[in-house]
Amino acid sequence: MAGRIASLLAFALSTFVATVSAAECSTPTSLPKFNNTKLPNPFLFNDGTHVRTKEDFTCRQKQMAALIQGYEAGSLPPRPPVVEPAFTRNGSTAVLNITTGFEDNKISFAPTMTFPEGTAPERGWPLLIAYSGLSIPVPDGIATLIFDNSAMGEQNDQSSRGVGLFFDLFGSNATASSMSAWVWGVSRIIDSLELTPKAGINLDKIAVTGCSRDGKGALMAGAFEPRIALTIPQESGSGGDTCWRLSKFEQDSGDVVQQATEIVMENVWFSVNFDNFVNDISVLPYDHHSLAALVAPRALISFENTDFEWLSPLSGFGCMTAAHTVFEALGIPDNHGFVQAGNHSHCDFPESQNADLFAFFDKFLLDEKNATTANIFTTNGLFNGTVWNASQWIDWETPRLL
Ligand SMILES: *[C@@H]1O[C@H](CO)[C@@H](O)[C@H](O)[C@H]1NC(C)=O
Ligand SMILES: *[C@@H]1O[C@H](CO)[C@@H](O)[C@H](O)[C@H]1NC(C)=O
Ligand SMILES: *[C@@H]1O[C@H](CO)[C@@H](O)[C@H](O)[C@H]1NC(C)=O
Ligand SMILES: *[C@@H]1O[C@H](CO)[C@@H](O)[C@H](O)[C@H]1NC(C)=O
Ligand SMILES: *[C@@H]1O[C@H](CO)[C@@H](O)[C@H](O)[C@H]1NC(C)=O
Ligand SMILES: *[C@@H]1O[C@H](CO)[C@@H](O)[C@H](O)[C@H]1NC(C)=O
Ligand SMILES: *[C@@H]1O[C@H](CO)[C@@H](O)[C@H](O)[C@H]1NC(C)=O
Ligand SMILES: *[C@@H]1O[C@H](CO)[C@@H](O)[C@H](O)[C@H]1NC(C)=O
Repeated sequence: MAGRIASLLAFALSTFVATVSAAECSTPTSLPKFNNTKLPNPFLFNDGTHVRTKEDFTCRQKQMAALIQGYEAGSLPPRPPVVEPAFTRNGSTAVLNITTGFEDNKISFAPTMTFPEGTAPERGWPLLIAYSGLSIPVPDGIATLIFDNSAMGEQNDQSSRGVGLFFDLFGSNATASSMSAWVWGVSRIIDSLELTPKAGINLDKIAVTGCSRDGKGALMAGAFEPRIALTIPQESGSGGDTCWRLSKFEQDSGDVVQQATEIVMENVWFSVNFDNFVNDISVLPYDHHSLAALVAPRALISFENTDFEWLSPLSGFGCMTAAHTVFEALGIPDNHGFVQAGNHSHCDFPESQNADLFAFFDKFLLDEKNATTANIFTTNGLFNGTVWNASQWIDWETPRLL
């Protein structure tokens, strides 16, 4: 009887106590009993109760962020005491030389920047941060910054584990990965821009992009760094805008894809802890739709390429379909786009996609009042005969969060 009253009370509480205060938001880094072959419901808290409000969802995002760091990304150290930028501009180019770390142990890295012609807008130029180089077109009026992410956390092969500037600072045994090292670097770049008003960057209009492995990294940066307004992963494939469970399904269906068991052998993008889960990914209490969900309510558009089966095309479409329910639940479906086509080389951005990309730049970086990003969610459906069946993977109704 007591148990029944307790469960009725718990039900009443979960139904009528609509919001969770920040103090109550517990964020463990693992859920040892979790096991679900379907995509985990992003609208359920770790304890199985329902997310009902937008405020609830910010707690849910903290839970998912902690889990993703715990299982695969590695931990993200906070801003260190020393962040000292030196900015030198010459004409349309500049160097932002960032010295950061601790009084007795510092690193320096020096991203290069390119500025548009003409007079800066009153609030400064919007900025696109590109991992390692630019492989998308950029409209006029946006500054760019090239981030040498591989120097921050190397990514050649297994020998890159714990190698790079980030690990010089935190130790080669830091419970991190090249992905979290890169995100940490992006955060220090934004800290430095905050400390450098003369750089003339509009801090509310920062985007991040990268292609392939760097696309995986760009999505992580958008997920974990809330100062990024627009996230643009390009052909990020497995470990990016695809879901581990769906990539496994593709592999089990006879497609030659890069899935979790392969990716941890190939490189050091993920933490060593992830090795423990790749053979039973149903125990992951999240998937990469949850990673994309961390970007909301900010904007996300990802581009995929069906010409390369290893990019896991069904997984990209299915995973972003699941992530889209989060943007719908928040009442902002236009903040999330997905464009999947073929007929182009890997990381070669086809001109036919310029309009979709530029719509996102116009709306979220350039503040064009007439820009529209409605219904930019397309695929050619070329999944090598493997069938996407939403109800096989998504077992939730999309709520309308209050
Ligand atoms: C998860 O469940 C599947 C079957 O649904 C089972 O095969 C697997 O062993 C379970 N994994 C764990 C860690 O319990
Ligand atoms: C500035 O750039 C110009 C050409 O772009 C170059 O000739 C000049 O040496 C540069 N000045 C400095 C101080 O680097
Ligand atoms: C950046 O600053 C550090 C520390 O002053 C210096 O050692 C390094 O040479 C500088 N790098 C560049 C590219 O200017
Ligand atoms: C780092 O980890 C390796 C392997 O686990 C171990 O042999 C080494 O002693 C550790 N180094 C430090 C500085 O903790
Ligand atoms: C496409 O599917 C067929 C049949 O399952 C398989 O033999 C082939 O390897 C797949 N192709 C790729 C590129 O995955
Ligand atoms: C690829 O391009 C060719 C020639 O432009 C066209 O005929 C074909 O339909 C395209 N294929 C796809 C999958 O878009
Ligand atoms: C949007 O407005 C700008 C001026 O603010 C104009 O230059 C542009 O052509 C308009 N675009 C569309 C699609 O109407
Ligand atoms: C789609 O998946 C659901 C749930 O697993 C299943 O009931 C249904 O039969 C599937 N539909 C098709 C066309 O395979």
